[in-house]
Amino acid sequence: MFVSLKCVYTYIEFATIEISTLLSPVAMPLLPATGAELLESIRINSDALAVDAGGALTIDGHAPAALVERYGSPLFVTVESTLRANYRRIHTAFATRWPAPVNVLYSIKANNALAVRAILSSEGAGGDCFGLGELYATLEGGADPRLVVMNGSNKTEAEIDAALAQGITINVDATDELDFLRAACARHGRRAKVNLRLKVLPPELDHHVNELHKSAHGYVANLRRVKWGFVTEGARPLVEELQRMECVELTGYHCHVGHLSKAPDASAAVAGAVAEAVSELARATGFYPRVLDLGGGWAPQRDPSFREAGRQAFGIEDYAAATTAALRDGLRTDAPLPALWIEPGRYIVGNAVVLLARVGTVKRDAGLCWMHVDASTNNLPRIESGHFHYTVLPATRMNESFAGPVEIVGSTCFRSLIGGARPMPAPQRGDIVAILDAGMYAEVFSNQFNGVPRPGGVLLSGYGVDEIRQRETIDDVFRLQRMPAWLAQIAPRWSAALGEAQ
Ligand SMILES: Cc1ncc(COP(=O)(O)O)c(C=O)c1O
Repeated sequence: MFVSLKCVYTYIEFATIEISTLLSPVAMPLLPATGAELLESIRINSDALAVDAGGALTIDGHAPAALVERYGSPLFVTVESTLRANYRRIHTAFATRWPAPVNVLYSIKANNALAVRAILSSEGAGGDCFGLGELYATLEGGADPRLVVMNGSNKTEAEIDAALAQGITINVDATDELDFLRAACARHGRRAKVNLRLKVLPPELDHHVNELHKSAHGYVANLRRVKWGFVTEGARPLVEELQRMECVELTGYHCHVGHLSKAPDASAAVAGAVAEAVSELARATGFYPRVLDLGGGWAPQRDPSFREAGRQAFGIEDYAAATTAALRDGLRTDAPLPALWIEPGRYIVGNAVVLLARVGTVKRDAGLCWMHVDASTNNLPRIESGHFHYTVLPATRMNESFAGPVEIVGSTCFRSLIGGARPMPAPQRGDIVAILDAGMYAEVFSNQFNGVPRPGGVLLSGYGVDEIRQRETIDDVFRLQRMPAWLAQIAPRWSAALGEAQ
């Protein structure tokens, strides 16, 4: 049904020119010669990026140099209009293809900025949270509890209690949760809304998963080993028990297979398998869901986790079409279709944040050029743990010709390679670079390795520029540590002298 040909790349790394790219009819230009051309070749609809008359990048109309001057570097820059555009596009993609209610639950694990959550709340987005921290942020950011789910395979009694007290739907993923539910219901005198998490293992997934997920035993065999969800046989007794529990309102099922493929056919395979499981469970138990929650993993068109340059994925409409068609085919029912819930994280927030960094030392040796920046893999840890590929633009010199490949490196004592063999104009200390797609799984994974404080963040909106995350200081890095009294005498406070340097 869908052509699972590689998406067309329009940007090629200096180091890896692909023949498929050179043959592509829409690969224009073949080799971007400037930052501006590079931006055009990888742009996606909701990017709020442009180049001004002076050749500088603008982010939602703001100059990176001015932002860094005022708020410091590195700096996470979040764009309100991009967040709203992404939310509306994914909501429309599903709502126009599914003839029952659609609830887009923002998965706050991708980026837990309260301001981001508040913008999405104002759009009417539901929420997916995991644990008390994310529940706090989801509610603090104004989400309607009736549109929120709590996930987790080792939920504590306190988490179940808090979710139930707020009227949040609990995606049950363990037998012990049933006892926690009984106790919490008795404590609060209210019923719990519950979905049961399923695990589906469609064999055809093995044909679609990315190279990066392939393994000797096959992807589906690995999926069986992951801790989340129940296969149909395991789910059946739980459905029966949940139906018997008076304090529970079983509303439906949840299933999240996650981010595994660019192919819409892979989404269709998962949705088809969910529909099959639902139908089989309906025949066995008489329970037909009012809600089907298909989880997250919806790919933005430019997604660093695909480990490649350029735009890699299809439009969200293609995934929505494949998913809804497979669900309808698989459910084959005269009963009203269930409400469809989805839990996108990366899709909504990925390109809504740009990380700005300032160039420091430029070092040339052994035929290579290293361009140090003051951001590092501390701020983008998925480079090291997930081989993410970020696009980096020369924000202050977008119209200057590329001079040759550079190694873009952070300043920590790790290799901290942000991008290898990347096209750049001849770099100079003081330049500013813009690292795109820093909205997903960056700040939430960040760390303070080498004692480096984490960056601040601003929001660009119709109200101008607002600080949404204060920059940390060295004091913040060490603030929660305690010196035992018996060591305090031998640890003089030389550090006080550093105060000025921060
Ligand atoms: C249950 C669940 N829902 C949603 C998400 C969000 O995924 P993504 O950011 O890929 O959309 C995740 C990610 O791990 C998840 O585990």
